[in-house]
Amino acid sequence: MLYAIETEGITKKFDEITAVNNVSISVKPGELFGLLGPNGAGKTTLINMLSTMIEPTGGSAKVWDFDVKKDAPHVRQNIGMVFQDTTLDDRLTGRENLDLHGRLYDMDSKHRKKRIEEVLSLVELTDRANAIVKTYSGGMTRRLEIARGLMHHPHVLFLDEPTLGLDPQTRNHIWEYIKVLNKEEGVTIVLTTHYMEEADHLCHRIAIIDHGEIVALDTPEALKNMLGGDVITLELENPDNISRLCEIYKENGCASIVSRKNNDVFITVRDGERQIPHVLELASDAGIPIRSVSLHKPTLDDVFLHFTGRAIRDKEAGETERVGYILRARRK
Ligand SMILES: Nc1ncnc2c1ncn2[C@@H]1O[C@H](COP(=O)(O)OP(=O)(O)OP(=O)(O)O)[C@@H](O)[C@H]1O
Ligand SMILES: [Mg+2]
Repeated sequence: MLYAIETEGITKKFDEITAVNNVSISVKPGELFGLLGPNGAGKTTLINMLSTMIEPTGGSAKVWDFDVKKDAPHVRQNIGMVFQDTTLDDRLTGRENLDLHGRLYDMDSKHRKKRIEEVLSLVELTDRANAIVKTYSGGMTRRLEIARGLMHHPHVLFLDEPTLGLDPQTRNHIWEYIKVLNKEEGVTIVLTTHYMEEADHLCHRIAIIDHGEIVALDTPEALKNMLGGDVITLELENPDNISRLCEIYKENGCASIVSRKNNDVFITVRDGERQIPHVLELASDAGIPIRSVSLHKPTLDDVFLHFTGRAIRDKEAGETERVGYILRARRK
């Protein structure tokens, strides 16, 4: 087997919406692979097809060499799943949730007991294992879900937005568990996220997904290097001037890439520090006032902006999303 996951033109249409459009990806065994994209990009739909929760309307996919359409039971035996919304039973204890999962996977009592202790220890929940899940914090709930996904020794683990709505400290904590289980348990991991820092920090390779299509796929470093230099951000006094300024920069060939968002113009140049005076001079010669200027190394957000004309940052988890997540979780 060459790939843990291999898709060929996989597609999902919901009536008039094409949620995933002709996606072909290959994930190697042991890889930590990220699907990075804003809300509605198609991330959950893609991993729901790979985990046999829903059927593709086109194309094909194999997970651990089993076809998701023709051999769904074998796919399920080989995967673990952490859904975007929590699916734990909050009236049971942590240990009982794990035990229930082990029973559903037909694990015998001895094996189940041993594995429960292992996965609890991995996510550092041994001390709270006998408390009911209702009393857990958001981070503990997520850790228990990861532990549950690992109970039956899956080869491939899908994590759908593993840190959505968690505070930065808890997020860092979960990142460490994800790294450990990828390295020490050797699990192939596919995670979806719209936090670019998360994808950057964790993933060996990242597929940037937008409107159901992969717009770029590579290592985080290669994606950032694609832009070929530093990013200068110019905030304009008057947004009406944006198009004219972009044209001026393109005509003068002073930047490899020029993009825009709201009142800002982003230009990518080599030797950014040296180029700033020239860039400002061109704006000044054209009589276009600049309010502020800054320089930074490219981030995955710049890469996303380059390919889509929008920023992922616009869509990052705000308080509303966090509250929505908690409410949805409570309803369930
Ligand atoms: N069951 C469904 N019926 C109709 N449309 C759907 C269904 N599930 C998803 N969609 C649509 O498919 C598109 C992709 O949704 P999906 O949930 O896969 O996005 P996502 O990238 O996971 O977004 P998020 O970051 O918000 O979780 C959206 O336009 C969504 O409204
Ligand atoms: Mg989703």
